[in-house]
Amino acid sequence: MKFKLFTIVGARPQFIKAAAISRAIKNHFSANLEEFIVHTGQHYDSEMSDVFFDELKIPKPSFHLHVGSGKHGEQTGQMLQSIENLLVVEKPDLVLVYGDTNSTLAGALAASKIQIPVAHIEAGLRSFNKSMPEEINRILTDHVSTFLFTPTKSGLSNLEKEGFGLMPTNHVDHNHPMVMHCGDIMFDNALYFKDLAMDTSYSWFQKLGLENGKFILATVHRNANTDQKDRLKEILSGLIQASENKSWKTILPLHPRTLKMIQLFAEEDPFFRDISNTAIQIIPPVSYLQMVLLESLCGLIITDSGGVQKEAFFYNKPCIVLRPETEWVELVESGAAILVDADKSKLLSAVKHFENSPFDVKESFYGDGNSAELICKTLIQFLSNKRA
Ligand code: UD1
Ligand code: UDP
Repeated sequence: MKFKLFTIVGARPQFIKAAAISRAIKNHFSANLEEFIVHTGQHYDSEMSDVFFDELKIPKPSFHLHVGSGKHGEQTGQMLQSIENLLVVEKPDLVLVYGDTNSTLAGALAASKIQIPVAHIEAGLRSFNKSMPEEINRILTDHVSTFLFTPTKSGLSNLEKEGFGLMPTNHVDHNHPMVMHCGDIMFDNALYFKDLAMDTSYSWFQKLGLENGKFILATVHRNANTDQKDRLKEILSGLIQASENKSWKTILPLHPRTLKMIQLFAEEDPFFRDISNTAIQIIPPVSYLQMVLLESLCGLIITDSGGVQKEAFFYNKPCIVLRPETEWVELVESGAAILVDADKSKLLSAVKHFENSPFDVKESFYGDGNSAELICKTLIQFLSNKRA
C-alpha cells in the first residue's frame, strides 16, 4: 500500500529537518510513502531556502505558496488559507510538520480542521515563555496533532504533564493521539553530513582566514534579541569583548532579520555602523554543510538558535545561549550549555567558565541517529491499519 504524505515546510531549520525524513523515505520506504513537499514561502532568499534543497538533495517542492514575510496573523492566515485549499483538492493521507514556526502552526491547523491526521516532529518542547511566538505555535500544534514525535525525554515528560501520556494508544486517531519519544532527526543529519561537510566545504573555510579551533561561531536571530536595540547592542558588544579577550575572531553568519535591524539601528547609533571594524566578521547566511564545518572547527559557539545549540553538543563544542531559558534543558543541566540571556557580563563569565572547566558530557540525549526511520515506520503502520 502506498500513502500520500504532505510535508509542510517554510523556514530554514525545517528544510534541514525535512532532509532527514526525505532521505529515509528515498532509501527505505518509497514503496509505502510518496512525499510531496509544500513550501509556504516563509523564507525565500536563496541562502535561506534554495541552497538547502540543492545541497541536501531534498525533493523540490511540489507546491510553493509564496507567502513571504508579514505580521504573525497576516503570514499565518495566508498560509492557512492556501494550505487548506491545497489539502482539500489533494487529499493526502497525512500531513507532516516540523518544529514551531508559523508554517508549522498553519499546516497543523489547516489539516486538523479537515480531519487529515497531523504528525508533529519535535513535539513536546516547551520554554514556558509565551512571549515567544514559537511557544504558542508549538503548544497549539501539539494539541491538534495525531502523532507527537518527541526528540527528548523532557519533551515526553512535558506532554505527559499536559495529559497526553494518559491516552490509550491501541487505537490512534485525532481524539486519541500517539506520543512517541523517537530521538532527534537533527542528530541523524549531524551523523550523516559531518564527513561530507569536510569534503565539500574545507576549501571555502580556508578562505575565511580563521584559525582552526580558535574562533567563536555566533548566530543571533530571535525576535526578542534583534528587535530591541539595547539587547542587540549588549549581545554584539559581548561578542566583541569575548573576541578581544581571547584574541579570537567571531564569525557571525547573519540572519536577514538581524541584518535588517542592524541597518535600521545604524541610522541613529554609530555602534551599529562601526560593527564591521570590530573582531566580528559578518558574513551572509551560510549553507548547512558550511555551517556544520564552522561548528566542527570552532572553539566556542554563542547562539540563540535552537538548532545550533544542539549542533554545538553534537560536535562537542561549549555553547553559550543568548536566551533566558531553553527548550533543550538537557544541555544546560549537563553543563554543555550556559544560559546568559542578553547580558554581556554573564556572557563573559560563561566564556571564562568554559576556559577553566571544559565540559565533558558522554550521555547521548538525542537518540541513535535513526529517528527518521522510526518515524516513517510508525506512520506506515498507522496508515496501513487505518486503511485495512
Ligand atoms: C522564523 C521562525 C523562528 C525560527 C526562524 C529560523 C516564526 C514565528 N519564527 O523566524 O522560530 O527560529 O524562522 O530561521 O515562524 N527575511 C528575509 N528573507 C527571508 C526570510 C526572512 O529578508 O528569506 C526577513 C524579513 O524581513 C522578515 C524577517 O526576516 O520579516 C523575519 O522572518 P520570519 O520568517 O518572519 O521570522 P524569523 O525571524 O526568520
Ligand atoms: N544554519 C545554516 N546556516 C546559517 C545558520 C544556521 O545552515 O547561516 C543551520 C544550522 O546549522 C541549524 C539550523 O540552520 O541546522 C538552525 O536554524 P535557525 O537557527 O535559523 O533556526 P532555529 O533552529 O533557531 O529555529
